[in-house]
Amino acid sequence: MLTETAPAKINLALHVRARRPDGYHDLETLFVFARDGDRVSLADADTSAFTVGGPFAGVVGPDADNLVVRAAAAFRAAFGIAQHHAITLDKYLPVASGIGGGSADAAATLRALARRHDVAADDARLVALAVGLGADVPACLLGRAAFGSGRGDALTPIAGLGDMPVLLVNPLVPVSTAAIFAGWDGVDRGAIPNGGDTLARGIAGRNDLQPAAERVAPQVAQVLAILRERPGAVLARMSGSGATCFALFPDAADRDAAAAVVAAEQPGWWRLASVVA
Ligand code: C5P
Repeated sequence: MLTETAPAKINLALHVRARRPDGYHDLETLFVFARDGDRVSLADADTSAFTVGGPFAGVVGPDADNLVVRAAAAFRAAFGIAQHHAITLDKYLPVASGIGGGSADAAATLRALARRHDVAADDARLVALAVGLGADVPACLLGRAAFGSGRGDALTPIAGLGDMPVLLVNPLVPVSTAAIFAGWDGVDRGAIPNGGDTLARGIAGRNDLQPAAERVAPQVAQVLAILRERPGAVLARMSGSGATCFALFPDAADRDAAAAVVAAEQPGWWRLASVVA
């Protein structure tokens, strides 16, 4: 049995630049990754099988359309693998929530299969499979701090945040990425600053999808208001197309105090206290 973590993806900044003829958007983003996330486990089997566990199993279901199943099928076809696998996805991250979720799961599946079948983690064919599975899957396959352009899949590794404490909060309103991009107002507000360290670039940046997400899920504004008021928070922002928001706290005690306040004020919201690399 092989297990891979599928860490939550966080967009420190996400600038939308233009709508493309293929329906996607050109963007610039700073990707960082939490230590925690979903988990994908893999074992050899006589027939292909897919099961889902964990707190959000009921939302996902063992669907044949799941990106995990599609990633495994694409891997077997690309590398000519006859061996079948039993794959278990343990779902700890909320679904359709702007922190990678399905993309992280697909990338973890590719990593697990690569380990099992002796394919190098940076094999170009693996990256090509990731690109075909979704715009965020290549970043999740890389799994380290990176600047993303194009659809978010042209990646340049950058210096990360060095395990900075982070609090993720989601009001448990699922949000469709396509719908949020469709709600973008079409105004190019400029590039992510180039100079400075990753945190400084993030702080100087924006999430251009936030207004569209707040129209679909007004709770996003509420989450951000609570996070921004927490002592020690150096940056509070929405990730991806939402509705998950994050706050960075250089001091872990400040993060834990913030988590306690959120738990007390909004017990129905999902929270994850972690660190970002
Ligand atoms: O590639 P993925 O399936 O994750 O993208 C989901 C949807 O998000 C796309 O169908 C598209 O509508 C939107 N999207 C976009 N521009 C991007 C990434 C995603 O418009 N750069």
